[in-house]
Amino acid sequence: MDFTIRNLGKTAIQSPLITNGLFTDESFVSDGQKIIYDPFFSEDTSGRPGPRPGFEQAGPRKMIHFKPEETRSAILTAGGLCPGINAVIRSIVIESYYRYGARSITGIRYGYSGLNPAKDFTPIELTPDLVEDIHLEGGTILGSSRGGTEEMEVLVDTLARLGIHILYTIGGDGTLRGAHKISEIALRSGMDLAVVGIPKTIDNDISFIQRSFGFETAYSQASESIYAAHTESKGAPNGIGLVKLMGRHSGFIAAHACLAMSDVNFVLLPEVPFDLEGENGFLAHLKRRMLNRHHAVICVAEGAGQDLVEKDNTPQQRDASGNVKLDDIGVFLKNAITRFFREEGIEINLKYIDPSYLIRSAPPVPTDSFFCSQLGQFAVHAGMAGKTDMAVGLWNNIYTHVPIELAVSRRKTIDPASLFLYNVISATGQPLSMKNK
Ligand code: F6P
Repeated sequence: MDFTIRNLGKTAIQSPLITNGLFTDESFVSDGQKIIYDPFFSEDTSGRPGPRPGFEQAGPRKMIHFKPEETRSAILTAGGLCPGINAVIRSIVIESYYRYGARSITGIRYGYSGLNPAKDFTPIELTPDLVEDIHLEGGTILGSSRGGTEEMEVLVDTLARLGIHILYTIGGDGTLRGAHKISEIALRSGMDLAVVGIPKTIDNDISFIQRSFGFETAYSQASESIYAAHTESKGAPNGIGLVKLMGRHSGFIAAHACLAMSDVNFVLLPEVPFDLEGENGFLAHLKRRMLNRHHAVICVAEGAGQDLVEKDNTPQQRDASGNVKLDDIGVFLKNAITRFFREEGIEINLKYIDPSYLIRSAPPVPTDSFFCSQLGQFAVHAGMAGKTDMAVGLWNNIYTHVPIELAVSRRKTIDPASLFLYNVISATGQPLSMKNK
């Protein structure tokens, strides 16, 4: 694991924050300040402790790389929508403009496509006036898109033509990979371009980052669907509320919403395989629950049980970000449950709820907009200091710099052996395993 953060070069310019009247020497962070990666230690270890790897701490640097009044920044937002994107945009603009006096900020339209001249998406100038009221709005004022990272040299040429010094990319792992390529090309061609990522995913699946913004809003929204499913399930004889939530490969949204709501009796996650049929299969346990309690709430993450859905022979479809298009486990389960109880001669009332995009197009909850404001500020401190090929992260509740290569090196998923998973499963009351062997 390499935690080294790339710097563009000399930091010979005094930060304008020195004179803001608020900061003392202690307010600034030096590159030597680290946040430990593994906070656990054992009291009974023998021998000398080895080196403790850790992240560079985020925060304002006393000496910076770019001359604020000459600095030209650009912001782009890519990938699926996520609550809080506008709050991050606003924060970057306000911090750059007022705190650093870096007043040229360009908004790139529709993700990386906006840097491709062939697409003809005209950039917009981002000013404090323009962003003043956007922070509580869902979506992104810049527009987003998937893909567009095929012709990276062309995109870097556009950045050079616009004279951009700092590019802020707000997006998930695909966007971060694009940002990494841009910074590599820029470094190779001697461009003085800092590329700073702000990780965005409602799935919370980026590694080496404690939590991504928008996630808390997403699972709060999801919780409303669980509430509805619970109400519906109790409102009819043998009621079953089935909720499908986003979460392609990582079931954090479903897991957190289940723990938050405590009304869920079965949670089905991509990380935990289960059988449908058989003595220890999901349907048998659901039947036991219905015979005992006469109502049930089931929450399934979209990536769960993909091995159960019958596949036809068509090759796997992928979206423009390269993500495999999944089969619809929600509809599959709804049909399987209905068929099973019909064959068992038990009458049920099944209500299926798929909140779909409702959970990610929502405006951010206050904890998320708070988080977004800080992420934007820390991104600007990093950019002005000439840090590149990095993302702003959070670890042990402290803001960090994460090398992009490290952040995208693996996907964050729920560890099936973790106490967290045990907490979630235990809150539902379902068996720890629903596999027959
Ligand atoms: O990547 C986040 C995510 O919310 C996934 O959970 C979901 O599968 C996907 O986006 C859907 O996005 P879209 O329909 O825009 O491809």
